[in-house]
Amino acid sequence: MQGKSGIRTRAVHAGESPDPATGALATPIYQTATFAYPSVEQAAARFAHREPGYVYTRYGNPTNAAFEAKLAELEGAEAALAVASGMAAVTTAILASVKAGDHVVAGRSLYSSTQTFLSGRARDFGIEVTFVDPSDPQNFKDAVRPHTRLFYIETPGNPTLQITPLAAVSDIAREAGIRTLADNTFATPINQRPRAFGIDAVIHSATKYLGGHGDLLGGVIAGSREFIDRVWPVHIELGAVLSPFHAFLITRGMQTLPLRIAAHNQNALAIARFLENHPLVARVTYPGLPSHPQHATAIRQMTGFGGVICFEVADAEKGRRVMNAVRLCTLTVSLGDTKTLICHPASMTHAHVASDLRLTAGISDGLIRLSVGIEDPEDLMEDLDQALRD
Ligand SMILES: Cc1ncc(COP(=O)(O)O)c(C=O)c1O
Repeated sequence: MQGKSGIRTRAVHAGESPDPATGALATPIYQTATFAYPSVEQAAARFAHREPGYVYTRYGNPTNAAFEAKLAELEGAEAALAVASGMAAVTTAILASVKAGDHVVAGRSLYSSTQTFLSGRARDFGIEVTFVDPSDPQNFKDAVRPHTRLFYIETPGNPTLQITPLAAVSDIAREAGIRTLADNTFATPINQRPRAFGIDAVIHSATKYLGGHGDLLGGVIAGSREFIDRVWPVHIELGAVLSPFHAFLITRGMQTLPLRIAAHNQNALAIARFLENHPLVARVTYPGLPSHPQHATAIRQMTGFGGVICFEVADAEKGRRVMNAVRLCTLTVSLGDTKTLICHPASMTHAHVASDLRLTAGISDGLIRLSVGIEDPEDLMEDLDQALRD
């Protein structure tokens, strides 16, 4: 792919070309577990990586390779590795980066399963983790110990939309010889390319914006060739393989990623402004609003602010009423769909967490998370207004 091509051209063409065997223009779904070897000598060469060629879908598959190449191109990475879900990307990339006795500094604003992995199972495996407020890079510097091997960040963070200053955090890491890993799910490479700010490797839940239509689970890790070569054997052992059918859907979805993200950005900004002026909304958090505490940082590292908005209503009861009153927005978890999705963490994803602990994590009883879709914004505003007034 031409390095100078625009992002829309690259999203359509990168990683894909007519199938050499048949000329099929759409990337075929290579729905196969294994690949026949022309000879035992060639099988040996493929297994030893002396010769290109596929051996078994857990080790690689041409449909998955198209997704990997497209994502690597958009993220400005040398290589990428497709996996079965966002959590497979998180855990595989972390386990390829650290071992027992190593120390990780992680931003506190994280997707809940990443948070529980780092604070639970990773610690069970002997990996020490310190959580810091990621909005101030000094917190990462202060947390470094002699055996710190990884800075793990998610920006914007789920669900609080806290922003981590990528360039400052990666500078601190590089000086100390520490690897940096960023979850770029919320921003996508259309709104933010962490590697351009010095971050070593990027992961995604492809379930969200990359796939974009809420019909699959997938994940991906992107970085230098050296890092992906280090992740690959861990992936082979953990075995969270992306199905070629899902890789096909993600690759197809990514062709319209720049168009969809432009619509998500535009809709979300309009709805964030609408909610900020709504009498029944106490507070709105959106990186694109000047009222966001890290708006200046967001402007420096993002070209658009994404589709996710958090807003607060009076209390938990009001939050529940809004959930039951929406008609166009769908009451569910997840994000990044063409459809607008709405959830109330205090009665859904975070219901099991004590109210005071939720508050420390920035999740008030009245907090609502909205993943703004690509519908007409006026229709969404009308739906939210009638639900808020219910
Ligand atoms: C930021 C972020 N990372 C990772 C994940 C996990 O992705 P998956 O559900 O595809 O495993 C999610 C899921 O919501 C997420 O929001």
